[in-house]
Amino acid sequence: MDLKDLYIDYFVSLNHKQIPSAPVVPENDASVLFNTAGMQPLIPYLLGEEHPFGKRLCDYQKCIRTNDLDEVGDKTHHTFFEMLGNWSLGDYFKEESITYSFNFLTQVLNIPIDRLAVTVFSGNEGIKKDEISVNVWKKLGIKEERIAYLDDNFWIAGSTGPCGSDTEIFYFRSDDEIPAVFDPEDDRWVEIWNNVFMEFYKNEDGTYKPLPKKNVDTGMGYERVVAVLEGVDDNYKSSVWKDVIKKIEDISSKPYVGNEKSMRIIADHIRTSIFIIADPSGIKPSNTDQGYILRRLIRRAIRHAKKLDIDYYGNWYKEIASMIIDKYSKYYSELEKNKEMIFEVLKGEIEKFNRTLEKGLKEFEKAKTKLNTNIIDATTAFHLYDTYGFPIELTKELALESNLDVDIKGFEQKFKEHQEKSRAGAKEKFKGGLASTGEMETKYHTATHLLNAALKVVVNKDVHQRGSNITDKRLRFDFSCDHKLTDLEKQKTEELVNKWISEGLEVTKKQMSKQEAINSGAECMFIEKYPDIVTVYSIGDVSHELCGGPHVKNTSCLGKFKITKEEASSSGVRRIKAILE
Ligand code: ALA
Repeated sequence: MDLKDLYIDYFVSLNHKQIPSAPVVPENDASVLFNTAGMQPLIPYLLGEEHPFGKRLCDYQKCIRTNDLDEVGDKTHHTFFEMLGNWSLGDYFKEESITYSFNFLTQVLNIPIDRLAVTVFSGNEGIKKDEISVNVWKKLGIKEERIAYLDDNFWIAGSTGPCGSDTEIFYFRSDDEIPAVFDPEDDRWVEIWNNVFMEFYKNEDGTYKPLPKKNVDTGMGYERVVAVLEGVDDNYKSSVWKDVIKKIEDISSKPYVGNEKSMRIIADHIRTSIFIIADPSGIKPSNTDQGYILRRLIRRAIRHAKKLDIDYYGNWYKEIASMIIDKYSKYYSELEKNKEMIFEVLKGEIEKFNRTLEKGLKEFEKAKTKLNTNIIDATTAFHLYDTYGFPIELTKELALESNLDVDIKGFEQKFKEHQEKSRAGAKEKFKGGLASTGEMETKYHTATHLLNAALKVVVNKDVHQRGSNITDKRLRFDFSCDHKLTDLEKQKTEELVNKWISEGLEVTKKQMSKQEAINSGAECMFIEKYPDIVTVYSIGDVSHELCGGPHVKNTSCLGKFKITKEEASSSGVRRIKAILE
């Protein structure tokens, strides 16, 4: 049985409800480009909102981390990964959490205790050593020598948000004799599970406030644990990747040995691209935000296909993508459903890049001959980006292969100036950090529901949400619609939303079964993604939507609603940006 099934079955047997994997592009959190951990879609609930599924949850969650793109190509880094997680929202805490993890590892996966070791929080000026966790571990049979006390066992995603001390579980992955004393620096010990005991919220100013309820947030990296269980030290040799690598060996007629880096990059980047393209957010390759990440992933994969002498004008990507889609469809039905679209998007981007790749490579060679230092200057790097579509890591990689450096800082400066000119702001978001849902964001959530309802009245009852993104400055709403809105439609939509605001409609929240919600005609984006029990927010009787919130109590506090922009988002999808004044 697959680790994902074992994990979910186990936690379901402990009264956890399985929640569906959220989209990789966060729906209501503009502070990050992608979900980087299983807990991210749960933030409102970790902060105290009631979850429609209850207090014990588990899932496998699609995650994307692209800040260490450079490291992909080694044995263990991936841009996409799945995180297995279980949560207690104000229910159990340290003792049960640790016991559940321990029992899963030793009784379900049958890992001998002797192969396990743990780290716990050693305490700092503000917070005490985590004696409770230590005692639980000891009671379960973990010896003192296998417990390491570290002051960085404190977990937070980004710079603000829910956080707390954690305890990490390590597995000894080597055939060597297992040392009696655990040394977390010894890389034969690999971290497999992290249990975070969330008690605090870290504010912007660096202070902590206690959360209304204590939570447990755990995360186990799927590909790493599969590799560990299968006894391989290269994730790409595990059952997650083996057949994909074999496929790339066949396509390129080259062996994995000696070509590891390129093959890993192709496998990893194509997989991540597939998941981004199939995401409900409808991301396409572009020069900003998630679209730019997608573009870089595909382009880097192409370049490595070329390095392996794969006929990169051919069908290589389709063969690899088909295999990955087949492998994952059981768990992510969106892949099979969007298969043709995935091929189309990959094909489009590959064709586009193929037009400039050769020329760009020549340009790079030319620039190399002109150098009188061993640094590719920022102007050249930017020219390669701007004219030939070379993402910076590609230029960096080319440079490295010729023992050259690139003036990355200079490039970034130019890139930023360029981005600012074209109003993108993507860079900021790479840094991550979780936005709290403040007063303005909450208002925009409610305004988004009103807008959705108004469009149905004014434009067409078949208008449906295709995406949403909220900051404290504006809302952005994508919806299905086959035409550009007329000025009159925009004006009427604004008027209707403002009428509802001035009527002071009450916003109420009700939990009901999914079937009841469907019968009541509640609006939602992907009904199949929701659990059996859902929360429906109603605004007077003008709007009923499945939603996790948060929302204002009454529309009267929203202020004046104004559409600032209406534009095409993708084919058949329009995008509205609007503000509250
Ligand atoms: N959120 C925790 C992590 O990512 C579990 O490690």
